[in-house]
Amino acid sequence: MNYYLGLDIGTTGAKAILINSSGEVISSATSEYLMYNPKPLWSEQNPEDWWKATQNSIKDIFKKSGIKNSEVKGMGLTGQMHGLVLLDKDGEVLRPCIMWNDQRTIKECEEITSLFGFDNLLRITGNPVLPGFTAPKILWVKKNETQVYKKIEHILLPKDYIRFCLTGEFATDVSDASGTSLLNVGKRNWADEILSVLDIQKAWMPEVYESIEITGKIKKSAAEKTGLNYETPIVAGGGDQAAGGIGTGTVKDGITSVVLGTSGVVFSHTNNLTIEPEGKLHAFCHAVPGAWHVMGVTLSAAGSLKWYKEIFGETEKQIAAEKNINVYDLLTKLAGEIPAGSEGLIFLPYLTGERTPYPDPDAKGTFTGITIRHNKKHFIRSILEGVAYSLKDCLELNKRLGLGISEIRISGGGAKSKLWRQILTNVFNTEIVTLITTEGAPYGAALLAAVGTGEYSSVEEVCEKTIKISESTKPAADNVKLYEEYYDIYKNLYQSLKGSFNKISSAVEKQFRQ
Ligand code: XUL
Repeated sequence: MNYYLGLDIGTTGAKAILINSSGEVISSATSEYLMYNPKPLWSEQNPEDWWKATQNSIKDIFKKSGIKNSEVKGMGLTGQMHGLVLLDKDGEVLRPCIMWNDQRTIKECEEITSLFGFDNLLRITGNPVLPGFTAPKILWVKKNETQVYKKIEHILLPKDYIRFCLTGEFATDVSDASGTSLLNVGKRNWADEILSVLDIQKAWMPEVYESIEITGKIKKSAAEKTGLNYETPIVAGGGDQAAGGIGTGTVKDGITSVVLGTSGVVFSHTNNLTIEPEGKLHAFCHAVPGAWHVMGVTLSAAGSLKWYKEIFGETEKQIAAEKNINVYDLLTKLAGEIPAGSEGLIFLPYLTGERTPYPDPDAKGTFTGITIRHNKKHFIRSILEGVAYSLKDCLELNKRLGLGISEIRISGGGAKSKLWRQILTNVFNTEIVTLITTEGAPYGAALLAAVGTGEYSSVEEVCEKTIKISESTKPAADNVKLYEEYYDIYKNLYQSLKGSFNKISSAVEKQFRQ
């Protein structure tokens, strides 16, 4: 039997999964690392931590599965997108990675937009330039860390730094490169006109591949550190969303996937590059060769529930530990004891700013409508509902592009909750299906490796053969009406509060300025 390995350099840890050639998951292992928020709006990680975690996860997988490394015929990489990793001439990391959820570059985004013009940027890169994207971070380093900037010889995305550690190659794939604001998304290669105006040398950029292409082979020192077989081929892989799209079989027009992870995503496949005229949805290359995808991103989706658990969930954490149950199961059970609508308590999930439909780093989370009758259960339920409203914002924009959505597939940690799935179904007023394999991005990366090394002839074929629907959730008429009313109120709240959000940001910035 042949085996394939998928590795995901995620926000909270490096997850490795091993599948066999029929797409069954044989084993998986995750090693966690920390994220640092040294200043308001900043999010950073140490690339060296990803590399240590990668070694541990891959070693664990061999230990757990008993599979011989020579049986692993290929490996695919995926990971958090947009992060800026800078290396010097010796391949040494120059500073911590500035991550996808870092919002420090508002000014640099404005600068880039005025240099090229909004419409021109949309035409070339498919997207407006947003603070989480890579290009404005390079400008920020140039302005604020001149000594670091002078030493730059290589610019990499997170998963591609791990590729460098594993193979010594500087390479990326079209889907991950789409989130840099430096790719010509239509031509699927670096946009020379943007690189030269921003003074970013093309030699610093990795070579761009389609996701199924082999970019290199495991080098000796990496084989020793990870337990992988020397010269195992690695395919280009994809950004976590595109690879997740493969992992959910979102590889044909009509299929839309909703991911309820730390961030929440509504992702549609398209055979033709389709750009939302106001740039409200991301238009990126897909990990399916020659295809694209559009997606809306809610930055704090299941991340909002995690935030609640960390800040207010001490009691629930203790109870869950005593009863040996999952704390999220307990939290959602409590939310289920409250009627739909949380008795008028409405949560805006903009805990780390927002991208879709409001590309606004200053947006803030709020609970509105609090009364003396509300208890913890209402707050938890309102978080589940607020995230669902935000995902509906993304879905409505996808629908407006006329891509013809015929099936919605849901995945991600939050989708394990039956209650959250039901809330989403009611808020969307559309049937939602779940899949048998719920491993998402690393699973997609492993499937890409199975295609790239010749086990399957195409991405479509591997998805057809390995991805199966498990369950369907249908809308409940009563709640659909109620949620329509609350959704209208929800949408107006951002409009009423955005001026205040902006003022709050200025006040905080003034207080904590260096
Ligand atoms: C996609 C995005 C997130 C990150 C982290 O545009 O920002 O999916 O890749 O998961």
